Amino acid sequence: MKIQRKPQPRPLLLVNIGQLLTLRPASFNPGPRRGADLKELSIIHDGAVLSVGGKIVSVGTSEDALRDPWFRKNRRKVVEINCAGKVVLPGFVDSHTHPVFVGPRLVDFEKRIEGASYEEIANAGGGIRSSLAGVRKAGKAALSHKVLATLRDMAAYGTTTVEAKSGYGLTVESELKSLEAISAAASLWPGTVVATLLGAHVVPKEFQGCSQKYVETVCTEMIPRVAKRKLAQFVDVFCDKGAFTAEETKQVFEAAKAHGLSVRAHMGQLSETPLASFLKFEPASFDHMDHVNADDVSLLAKHDTVATLVPGANYFLGLRQYPNARHLIDSGVPVALATDYNPGTSPTISMPMAMSLACTHMKMLPAEAVAAATINGAWSLHLADRKGSIEPGKDADFAIFGVSDYREIPYWFGVNHCVATILSGEVASRD
Ligand code: NIG
Ligand code: FE
Repeated sequence: MKIQRKPQPRPLLLVNIGQLLTLRPASFNPGPRRGADLKELSIIHDGAVLSVGGKIVSVGTSEDALRDPWFRKNRRKVVEINCAGKVVLPGFVDSHTHPVFVGPRLVDFEKRIEGASYEEIANAGGGIRSSLAGVRKAGKAALSHKVLATLRDMAAYGTTTVEAKSGYGLTVESELKSLEAISAAASLWPGTVVATLLGAHVVPKEFQGCSQKYVETVCTEMIPRVAKRKLAQFVDVFCDKGAFTAEETKQVFEAAKAHGLSVRAHMGQLSETPLASFLKFEPASFDHMDHVNADDVSLLAKHDTVATLVPGANYFLGLRQYPNARHLIDSGVPVALATDYNPGTSPTISMPMAMSLACTHMKMLPAEAVAAATINGAWSLHLADRKGSIEPGKDADFAIFGVSDYREIPYWFGVNHCVATILSGEVASRD
């Protein structure tokens, strides 16, 4: 068999960067960014960054970069991008998405406008369960085509790393098919994809009234097969009323850990669940976190489990309440931001939109939103050694925004000012 190697990207120099947001740590605190560290962006003015073979090799001022002896000797081999005063930051790490579905849920959309709640829609046959038939019927190629289109759209908004969940098949075969579709799409995209098995999304209709049987299917069939074929790195559970109980969540976590997979959970979206008993599984993240009690906030401040906030879901569900990001951050909980891209609660691929909502509705400062959308997303995917900041040795993942101040990224909401994205050293430009 002939092994095809991906051609190495050419060396790349981004120069004349108005604000280069490196996110190099400004303190010696280890682990994900918390408290005051969350707003330290370590900005270089008139900056430059050089990458070779898809890895960052030097970060500094334009003046130093242009004087560098290696650069002067090799200038003809280097792709040079004159950023002309624009802003460059680490590519966004969208650490929570559900891209494997077939169609939008427009009836649910209208019902909600007319006043129906999330639970009322689910009980009337809408919601997550109404996306299952489409995915079960679809071929793998069609699903992977959709996922790839989504990844490309995400890159156009500055995203270079995506966590992608299954969870709209909910049979062993269709969950495997969904993860295979993610893997096929990932192999054609220059960015980085982290796959998550969300077999425990809801109890499908055929298991109604015997959720324990379904949990067993997840634990004894889905997880072992997914682990054996290395189709996912994480296992997620929707732990909430109408989905899975805390006990069921722990069963799934137990099985995941036994098969060498890391865990994360949708937690506190609709109701509060006490968190202490999950921490022995070292969850990478608890996502949503609309409902959490003060003791658990103090507890999380002592752990590396990231609270991933997804304000796109609150916006799209028309909720007045948003997660209390200020309380979480000020208490020392590491916070990330993600889109939660999905057809039911957050049909957006835009990290800048999630950041804008974080600023306007959760009172996060633009600097905190940047760090939450990059380095803390990377921590939540166990990728902080490679992603989320612009430092030598890390992957050459950048977003170039056609603005002169990074605060404009969340400020100009609903407009895409990302002019180019660099994914592992490969340039994807919008023009
Ligand atoms: O993150 N909460 C569970 N999962 C998704 C909703 C998925 C859907 O409605 O399709 C979420 O909001
Ligand atoms: Fe979600």
